[in-house]
Amino acid sequence: MSAVPMNFESQPLDMNLWSQNHLARVEQALSQWVGDGAPAGLGDAMRYAVLDGGKRLRPLLVLAAYEAVCSGAPASAVVDDAALRAGLGEAALRAACAVELIHAYSLVHDDMPCMDNDVLRRGKPTVHVVFGEAQAMLAGDAMQALAFEVLTPDAGEGAGVPADLQARLVRILARASGQAGMAGGQAIDLASVGQALDEATLRDMHRRKTGALLRASVQMGAACGGLQADCVAWQALTAYGHAMGLAFQIVDDVLDATQPSDTLGKTAGKDADANKPTYVSLLGLDGARQEADALLAQALSALSRSGLADAALQPLSDLAHRIVHRDH
Ligand code: IPE
Ligand code: IPE
Ligand code: MG
Ligand code: MG
Ligand code: MG
Repeated sequence: MSAVPMNFESQPLDMNLWSQNHLARVEQALSQWVGDGAPAGLGDAMRYAVLDGGKRLRPLLVLAAYEAVCSGAPASAVVDDAALRAGLGEAALRAACAVELIHAYSLVHDDMPCMDNDVLRRGKPTVHVVFGEAQAMLAGDAMQALAFEVLTPDAGEGAGVPADLQARLVRILARASGQAGMAGGQAIDLASVGQALDEATLRDMHRRKTGALLRASVQMGAACGGLQADCVAWQALTAYGHAMGLAFQIVDDVLDATQPSDTLGKTAGKDADANKPTYVSLLGLDGARQEADALLAQALSALSRSGLADAALQPLSDLAHRIVHRDH
């Protein structure tokens, strides 16, 4: 697998081209890894769940954060060993695929009858509708395991990803996926049906169920770029990911209440039908939109205090606008 190239250009990037190039790399890598050799129809269910669908915003955040560090850090901090640079690029692509695998698994389980009971996802019937509930559960399980396998390649696979970086990436992704993150947030979500949560509790639920994986995406990209966890740039990028993670779920709540199913590629109006507490039920549509805009401003301000070069931050800035102003 070829490494993600670094961007050393100083003129404005064509963000459509940037996204297309990066999405193509992620799609190619996922299609190589997902479901390969899985028995008894499991591979078909996994491939159906992951390939050819979704906005892939989490992988793009990984790659944007990686590039922001590689090309935006002061010259003294740039890695000049070519073999190590290749390993870091390989790690970034693997981290991008790993977070998408965790996200896609969370969607398969989120749609199951025991959770949100949804029949439409990414414009197609959901995995349990096509393959049955047991296979959907197993596909999710296998995708979660695959994410961590992808993060920890053997020395012989691809360019060498340093062992300490592998361990760091596994820790970031595991924390964001489990009880402190996505799974914990989903548990709060299910326990909150029919309840009017106060803002602090709702915020905590959203930060865990959705925010944690977005923040982890940014942190994994930054780690692949070589940032240590205690530096100013790391703290700024973490603050960016923290704000965008919450904004992402607030906008998801708004879109559920405002967009038709064919635009969303999933069933519209589910939150109100299922009596789920959301930012729309708590603050109304305008209040929820204002909150998302305030978080966008926080995220952009965090970027501006990162100490990274403005030109290198353009993809992260563009993605922040895209997350808040999307229509699906
Ligand atoms: C939907 O996520 C589920 C949430 C966490 C809000 P996305 O809106 O990123 O879904 P895809 O990946 O584009 O299908
Ligand atoms: C899901 O939140 C968050 C996940 C961890 C999958 P939602 O239940 O609101 O996501 P959608 O609207 O079904 O995509
Ligand atoms: Mg849900
Ligand atoms: Mg759902
Ligand atoms: Mg939703």
